[in-house]
Amino acid sequence: MSIKNLNLKKYIIGPNTPIETTKGFIPRVYFNNSATTLILKPAMKKFFNLLPIYTYINVPPSNSKYITTMYEETRNVILEMVGADANRDVAIFTKNSTEAMNVLADVYLEADPEQVVLSTTMEHLANYLPYKARMQTELIAIGKNGNIDLEDYVLKLEKYQGKVKLVAVTGASNITGVVPPYYEMARLAHQYGAKIFVDIVQVIQHLPFTMKPHGYDEHIDFVAFSAHKAYSGLDGGALVGPYDVLEKYLPLDFGSGITQFIDSSKIIYDNPPQKYETGYPDVLGVITMSKALQFLKKVGLDNIAKYERKLYKYLLYRMEEVPDITIYDSHSPFVHIPYISFSLKGIHFKTVAAKLGLDHGIEIGNGTLGADLYVQFLLGLSNEEAYECYKSGMGYGVNRVSLGMYNTFEEIDVFIHALKEIALSTR
Ligand SMILES: Cc1ncc(COP(=O)(O)O)c(C=O)c1O
Repeated sequence: MSIKNLNLKKYIIGPNTPIETTKGFIPRVYFNNSATTLILKPAMKKFFNLLPIYTYINVPPSNSKYITTMYEETRNVILEMVGADANRDVAIFTKNSTEAMNVLADVYLEADPEQVVLSTTMEHLANYLPYKARMQTELIAIGKNGNIDLEDYVLKLEKYQGKVKLVAVTGASNITGVVPPYYEMARLAHQYGAKIFVDIVQVIQHLPFTMKPHGYDEHIDFVAFSAHKAYSGLDGGALVGPYDVLEKYLPLDFGSGITQFIDSSKIIYDNPPQKYETGYPDVLGVITMSKALQFLKKVGLDNIAKYERKLYKYLLYRMEEVPDITIYDSHSPFVHIPYISFSLKGIHFKTVAAKLGLDHGIEIGNGTLGADLYVQFLLGLSNEEAYECYKSGMGYGVNRVSLGMYNTFEEIDVFIHALKEIALSTR
C-alpha cells in the first residue's frame, strides 16, 4: 500500500473541525499529536458496535464470550506489534504508559530496594519519577551530538557495577523526536547484568519497532505504551515483559481478579498478566486499542514513517524561514519522528501557543511537556535558573509541533503563515 496515494485524514475524526477564533470559525489544524493523537474512525466504529452487546466478561452468554475473546486477543496484537515472543513475554494491560512504568518500578523495588536505576536526561517524567521515587536513580547525560552520551552511560554502568539492574530509556523524545541508541544501550546493559526498558509511547504510532528475540545482545526486555497516543482515543496501555521475571513479584494494586485462591490465612496469586490487572478490566478501551493498532499495522509503520519523514523535512525547511526562531536539535541525524520544538525570540511560549490557538485555530504543545529535565537542558538553564523561572511565575518551556500520519503539507503552510505573522508582530 503506497501512503502517497492514501488520504489518511478520511479515517480520522475531526482533523479540521471548525473552531472559534478571533477571526471567526476556521478549520482547526491539530499539531499536538505527541500529547494525544486524534481518533481513528475504525477504532470508534468498533467501540460503538460493541455497545449494543456490551456485557460482563467471562460469563456464559455468547456475547460475553465474543467480547472476552477480543479482549484477550488484544494481547497477541500487542505482542506481535512490538516483536515480542508470545511464548516468553506477556502483555499486561494498564491504564496508560505511566501506570506501566510504575508497575515496572514497583517490581524492581520489590526485587532489590538497594539497586541503582539508570534513566536519562531525555526522558518524560513518566520514565524517571516512578524509579526516582522508589530507588536510587541516576541520569545518563546528553552528549555533544544531542543524543545519549554513551561514554557517560558506560561510566555509570562501571561506577554502579553489580547494582544496576534496570536501564530505562525513551524510544523517541517527545520534545525533539531524537531516537536514542537503545539497541546499543541494550547490549551494554546486558553486558553489565542489567535489563533494559524502552518507553515506546512515541514510537508505536510512528516507526517500525521490534524488541528483537530473547537471547540477542540487543534484545529489549520491557516496553510500554499508551493507546491514546496511538489513535484509539480511550484509556489503555500496556507493559510488555518477560513472564519469568513478572511472575516473581507482587502487583502494584491489589483487589479482586488477581488470586487463584484466597482464605483468611492464605493467598495464592494468579500468574501474569492477570496478577497485575486487579478490578474490572477496561474492556472497551482494550478492544478499541486493538482496532487502532491493527489499523496502523494495515497501513504499515514503514509507510507511515516514510510519509511523516517527508512532512517533517518540509516542516523543518519552512520553519527555518520564520524570523527569530530557535529550533532545538534541528538537522540532528537522530530525529526520526516528526516533532519540532522551538522558541520565538522575545515571545513567551505561552503567548505563542495562545496566539496560534486563539487567532489561527492551530493547536500545538507548550511548556516543559512532561520532560522538564530535558527542556531545562535544551534551554541551557541551570537548576537555580530553572527554579527562578518557576518562582517568578513565568516558568520555562518550549513550543512544540508534533505531526501525525494524517497531517498534510497544506496544514504546514497554514501553520507557517501564522507563525510568521506572530514572529513579525513583535518587530
Ligand atoms: C515519551 C513519553 N513517555 C511517557 C508519557 C506518558 O504518557 P501517558 O500520560 O499516556 O501515560 C509521555 C506523554 O506525553 C511521553 O511523551
